[in-house]
Amino acid sequence: MPNLVHPRFTQRNAFRPALLAWYSKHGRDLPWRHTRDPYAILVSEFMLQQTQVATVLSYYSEWLRRFPNFDSLAAASESDVLRAWEGLGYYARARNLHTTAKAVVSRGGTFPNSIEQMRQLPGLGRYTANAIATFAFDQPVAVVEANIARVLARLTNLQWPIDSAAGAAKVWQIASQLVPKRDAHAYNSALMDLGALVCVARQPRCPICPVRGFCHAVDPADLPRKRRLPALRLLKEHHSLTIHRGHILLEQSQDRWRGMWILPRLAAAPPRERPLYTSEFPFTHHRITLAVFRKRSVPAMPPAAQSWFPIHSVAILPLPSPHRRAVSYLLAPKAQKLCSTSAAP
Ligand code: ADE
Repeated sequence: MPNLVHPRFTQRNAFRPALLAWYSKHGRDLPWRHTRDPYAILVSEFMLQQTQVATVLSYYSEWLRRFPNFDSLAAASESDVLRAWEGLGYYARARNLHTTAKAVVSRGGTFPNSIEQMRQLPGLGRYTANAIATFAFDQPVAVVEANIARVLARLTNLQWPIDSAAGAAKVWQIASQLVPKRDAHAYNSALMDLGALVCVARQPRCPICPVRGFCHAVDPADLPRKRRLPALRLLKEHHSLTIHRGHILLEQSQDRWRGMWILPRLAAAPPRERPLYTSEFPFTHHRITLAVFRKRSVPAMPPAAQSWFPIHSVAILPLPSPHRRAVSYLLAPKAQKLCSTSAAP
C-alpha cells in the first residue's frame, strides 16, 4: 500500500499526542461516548448517519428509554419503531436497525465483535461496522465520516474528490495508516471533534488548530474537493385531506416512506382549486412542493392502501415530518372549518 501520509505525521509521531491533548480539553461530551454497549453505540451511529449531532441528542436518550436493548427493539412493531424515529428522516435507517435487532436476537442476542460478521447485518456498511468496532470494542480500526474526511483531506492536501470512489478509497487508506494501535476510540473521537469544532467546512479555524504544524493544505477552505453536485430537481406533489365524522383518511406509503402514513396522493391538482395548504421540503436531490387539497366527496370504499383513523389517534401513527406538519396545521381548529366535508360516506 503506497504511503499517502506525509512522513511528518509518522516520523515525528507527535501528531496523535497533539490531537489527543486537545481532545482531552476540548472534546465534546456526548452521551454515546459514556458507554461501551454495542446496542447503544449502534443506535447512535444509525441516528448520526445524515443527521446532525444536535438533533440526535434530542432523540437518543428517549430511544434508549423506549427500546433499551436488542430484545425490546426486536419485539416492537414496525409502526412503533417508525413513530419513535419520526423527525429523524431517512426511515430506511429505522427499518434496518429494527431488522438488525431481530437478527441479533435470533442469533442468541450477542452482537458480533468481528467486523466481517457485523457487515452481514442490514445497514452496516464500512463506516458503521468500524465505528462499533472502535467505539464499543476499542479495535484499532479507522473510521471515516464527513468530519474525518475533511480533516484528513486537508492535512494531506488531497486533490481527489472525496465523494468519488477513488477519492473515498484514498481517505480510508490515509485514515487506516494513521490510526493508533491503542486507544483508537479516543483518537477517532478526537479526529471527529477536530472536524466538528475547528477544521470546519467553511472558515476553518486554523490559528487555533492543535495540529496545524502537521497540515499540508495549501488552501484549506478549498478542501476537500468534491464532484459537482447534481442540480436540485423541483417536484410538485398533490395530496388530499378528507375528514368525516371525526375520522381522517390516510394512505400507507409504499415507496419513499414505506410503512408510514401520509395524506392520500392525487395524480394531479384538481382543476381551478386552490390548495388548503402548501409547504416545501428537501428530499435527497429534490425540492418538493407539497400541496393539499380539500376532498369534497368521501369515498365509500377507499383504495386498499387507505384507511380511516379517528383524528385523536393520528398522534400515535408514524407520519413523515412534512405530512405531520400539514396534518397538524389542517386539523388545528381554525383550519378545520375550511375542510369539513358534507357528503355522506
Ligand atoms: N461519536 C461516535 N460516533 C460519532 C459520530 N458519528 N458523530 C459524532 N460523534 C461521534
